[in-house]
Amino acid sequence: MGYEFESGVEHARERDAAASLDYRERFHLPDGIYLDGNSLGPLSTDAEQMLQHVVDEWRDLGIRGWTEGDPPWFYYGEHVGDRLASLVGAREEEVVVANSTTVNIHTLVGTFLDRCEREGRGRKVVVNELDFPTDHYAIRSQLRVRGLDPDEHLVVVESRDGRTIREDDVAAALDEHDDVGIVFMPSVFYRSGQLLDVERVTELAHDHDAYAGFDLAHSVGVVPHSLADRGVDFAVWCHYKYLNAGPGAVAGLYVHRDYHGEVPTLAGWWGHEKETQFEMRTTYTPAQSAGAWQTGTIPILSAAPLAGVLDVVDEAGIEALRDRSLELTAYLAYLVDERLPDCTVGTPRDPERRGGHVAVEHPEAYRVSEALTERDVVVDFRPPNVVRVCPSPLYVGFEDVWNAVEHLREIVVGREYERFERRGGGVT
Ligand SMILES: Cc1ncc(COP(=O)(O)O)c(C=O)c1O
Repeated sequence: MGYEFESGVEHARERDAAASLDYRERFHLPDGIYLDGNSLGPLSTDAEQMLQHVVDEWRDLGIRGWTEGDPPWFYYGEHVGDRLASLVGAREEEVVVANSTTVNIHTLVGTFLDRCEREGRGRKVVVNELDFPTDHYAIRSQLRVRGLDPDEHLVVVESRDGRTIREDDVAAALDEHDDVGIVFMPSVFYRSGQLLDVERVTELAHDHDAYAGFDLAHSVGVVPHSLADRGVDFAVWCHYKYLNAGPGAVAGLYVHRDYHGEVPTLAGWWGHEKETQFEMRTTYTPAQSAGAWQTGTIPILSAAPLAGVLDVVDEAGIEALRDRSLELTAYLAYLVDERLPDCTVGTPRDPERRGGHVAVEHPEAYRVSEALTERDVVVDFRPPNVVRVCPSPLYVGFEDVWNAVEHLREIVVGREYERFERRGGGVT
């Protein structure tokens, strides 16, 4: 995908004017330039209205909202799951919204570890050293509660460059350990923004008689997926990043239909077969869908904004969002090269290998991000040396990217960051 970019605000404005995709007016953007949608997406009017709709139902219907809400709250997890299915390339019954991402890792890794035991497979889990920490915490604890030593059973693939993980190294880990039951990897790495080859990793896992699970937190809503076609066994993700569903919004999960009917590790009444849930039996009959991996009552107030914002995402279309995102991140990388001495792009250039954000590396990244914050350019710092910049395609334009890089240029070239205190962990 060859783009031809030029320096200068006029070029940025021309590109914005030519863009067919711009939903900025549907979002409430804080003052300044908001480039942190890979941490917390902003509020949209659609999300706000759906939240208000549920609050109105609560006021007017009280408990009847569970059955008479529009849609009925009782089926909210399944209803929103159906709407999400196309974003991750799954069948409707394979997706549900429930719990938090961390809880979903617990219940799904646990479920598949138990399958491994029943099927006589190994129970090692292949992960990597660049994972988001919660993934390791949850998997280690699922190993521990099964009496398995996490230091022995967690196989951690190392990075060669501190930024990326090579699929070949995942293959090597699988060749080396013949008792792997699960390969669990992120689709997009939270720090560098590398996009992993989900299809290849799934094939590798299956070739080695292991299950393939993915953490899609940094790709859902900005990178299309084909989980069911690729035979991915399970996946988890959150909605507060590119899907803009609000702080702590209910999370999502996918379970391939081959495993429906299984009793989840964290069984709870909300995952019980719906038809008989209110018969209140103390024996558990799992729903015959991904819905079984729900645990307790769905937090409707944190699911409603997601139901609302999906209207915008559906209107835009995931393929168009991906195209726009790739163009914006390519432009950002181009400007870093052109305009920012001392900064390096830590994100793969190949569009096939890149998610929705760009890691701008600088030895004083923490102080640089503080200086940006003072100028109302909202980004985040990830130790040791990364300023993550996310031109989220629904509401960020080329002019925003241009202006943000000009702020960065003044901060870096003018050494403005020196006014800010160093923080531990930063490299000098
Ligand atoms: C890759 C990844 N997994 C999991 C999480 C967090 O999960 P939870 O929503 O349970 O806090 C994050 C949060 O940013 C993340 O980036």
